[in-house]
Amino acid sequence: MEKKFKRTLVTSALPYANGPVHIGHLAGVYVPADIYVRYLRLKGEDVLFIGGSDEHGVPVTIRAKKEGITPQDVVDRYHNIIKESFEGFGISFDVYSRTTSDTHKQLASDFFRKLYDDGKFVKMESEQYYDEGEQQFLTDRNIRGECPRCHAADAYGDQCEKCGATLSPDELINPYNADSGNPLVKRKTTHWYLPLDQYQPWLEQWILNEHKEWRSNVYGQCKSWLDSGLRERAVTRDLSWGIPVPVEGAEGKVLYVWFDAPIGYISNTKELLPDTWEQWWKSEDTRLVHFIGKDNIVFHCIVFPSMLKAHGDYVLPDNVPSNEFLNLEDDKISTSRNWAVWLNEYLVDFPGKQDVLRYVLTANAPETKDNNFTWKDFQARNNNELVAVYGNFVNRALVLTKKYFDGKVPACGEITDYDKAIIEEFVNVKSEVEKLLDQFKFREAQKEAMNLARIGNRYLAETEPWKLAKSDLSRVATILNLSLQLVANLSIAFEPFLPFSSKKLRSMLAYEEFKWENLGRTDLLPEGHTLGEVVLLFEKIEDDAIQAQLDRLARIKKENETANYKANPVRPNCTFDDFLKLDMRVGTVLECTKVPKADKLLQFKIDDGLETRTILSGIAKHFKPEELVGKQVCFIANLPPRTMRGIVSEGMILSAEDNEGKLSLLTVEPKAKPGSEIK
Ligand code: 2FM
Ligand code: ZN
Repeated sequence: MEKKFKRTLVTSALPYANGPVHIGHLAGVYVPADIYVRYLRLKGEDVLFIGGSDEHGVPVTIRAKKEGITPQDVVDRYHNIIKESFEGFGISFDVYSRTTSDTHKQLASDFFRKLYDDGKFVKMESEQYYDEGEQQFLTDRNIRGECPRCHAADAYGDQCEKCGATLSPDELINPYNADSGNPLVKRKTTHWYLPLDQYQPWLEQWILNEHKEWRSNVYGQCKSWLDSGLRERAVTRDLSWGIPVPVEGAEGKVLYVWFDAPIGYISNTKELLPDTWEQWWKSEDTRLVHFIGKDNIVFHCIVFPSMLKAHGDYVLPDNVPSNEFLNLEDDKISTSRNWAVWLNEYLVDFPGKQDVLRYVLTANAPETKDNNFTWKDFQARNNNELVAVYGNFVNRALVLTKKYFDGKVPACGEITDYDKAIIEEFVNVKSEVEKLLDQFKFREAQKEAMNLARIGNRYLAETEPWKLAKSDLSRVATILNLSLQLVANLSIAFEPFLPFSSKKLRSMLAYEEFKWENLGRTDLLPEGHTLGEVVLLFEKIEDDAIQAQLDRLARIKKENETANYKANPVRPNCTFDDFLKLDMRVGTVLECTKVPKADKLLQFKIDDGLETRTILSGIAKHFKPEELVGKQVCFIANLPPRTMRGIVSEGMILSAEDNEGKLSLLTVEPKAKPGSEIK
């Protein structure tokens, strides 16, 4: 028999705060989680929706180093961007916190300490790769070297991207630190491990026997992990960024990011409800549901449950609805290749169209297999479904009511057999949508909601009330009454999916008191009720908006192609004395103009700290002169003067040129006094 729970605790994977979030995140985790939570809230259930940023881990430190800022600076920046993006899309978290919060650090530390005190870890010494120059141990991903199979020069410690081989760092030939380039040595280090092998029999029983209802992709992945036999997993790392391991002799070590991150679900709940959080986490009455992407399955179904089991106080997940991946224009979404639709950029490019993306991502949700997002499909779904089906029906029903009944809900007269058939088609929508949402089938559930609008359109097309206005106004009243009831139903049915549009629709209906339990009823709007102002529910998206997005992606694709670019070989050595002879300096551009009749030349007037100096430079094709004024440039100050086009040039502006001819000007950061010498 199915267990009856008192409350549902919904978590969604904590995104890494080392970059903004993109459509893959939204489609995979946050839109489905939000639909589910909104649905439960509408049903009046006790539900909490927990989110937050995952702020530890090596990628954060890599980014910080690259940008010359601290890891905390990195996560502060992206936490805020991510949080705003989620707010922008109406992801209705009850709390959105972060794993650098004090509450989290304390709770994660206490969690580790309890497991440590209870003897749940195994302590082991092993040899790991170490960079003596940087004085740090490396993660597999940060180790590169020659692939033992295909001999590509830059395979990763866990995989060769050229031949696809799965590798371990030990297999690489001449391993080096991917960041510093330094060769690596082996060094002994001690870590604490969670012996997952000990949890294997329990996990087999709990997942394979007791949770056969989990999505087949989730169940299948768990089964394959279990079939190949679990091993111990290190839960500590030699790093400086993270939560210090709270035991003696662990200096310089932190909790592994995948140990602390899921505990973030608990600490964020505690932050929200400091007095009652335990009710949510420590009671058998709680149903815990984790929304995640498929790369997180092992951590949420095997590692975290084993940690919870080892701890002993906490509830285990009841379900882990995980989606597969979303591709973008037939290519894998990738943060490092900038191949993504970033949510913060979408909100700027398509203001007020949050629901369009929510709709498209649910219509194409990668629930059972990887799916593809294309801008053309986005446009088609907006124009042919949201505008032409949903928006069109709403608009016709409301505009006709304005026209024939002065914007007041007309009386429902005699119901014909045809009306009855239409009503029968939609009265069951509630149970249909509920059944699907209860099974986490969001794509089909949204289709059911859309079906209401299709029914409405068909009803109006077949009854043609505009033709009856002169002959039979009471029939028109009945048709429009029924249509308006359908519109009201649409605003309820779509509420979990398209919350912004439902709100807009309710304001058009001037009727706010819709309840989920009333879905399917035909008496939602009382006779005589006055409608609000009618506006378009959705607007057509024109080709140029889509083309702009496609152009952007084409640009990125091109940039990525040149990312594999190889620089020219280094020229033969010069002497140090040769180098010292050059007097290179910083100057501020006072004026910059094109030289008449010379299409390559720019004439600079530069403040060199002593006087105003004239320099000619053949870079006119690459820069707009007016944009260079005020900039600081680097130049060689002691070249003999040269006359070109009758103008004397007193030096040479320095720029960097790639072997495809792209130029970048050399400048200084921060600004320097004009005349500063470059050494
Ligand atoms: O894959 C990720 O983006 C991880 N940051 C998810 C962590 S989920 C949870 F454990 F916090
Ligand atoms: Zn290889």
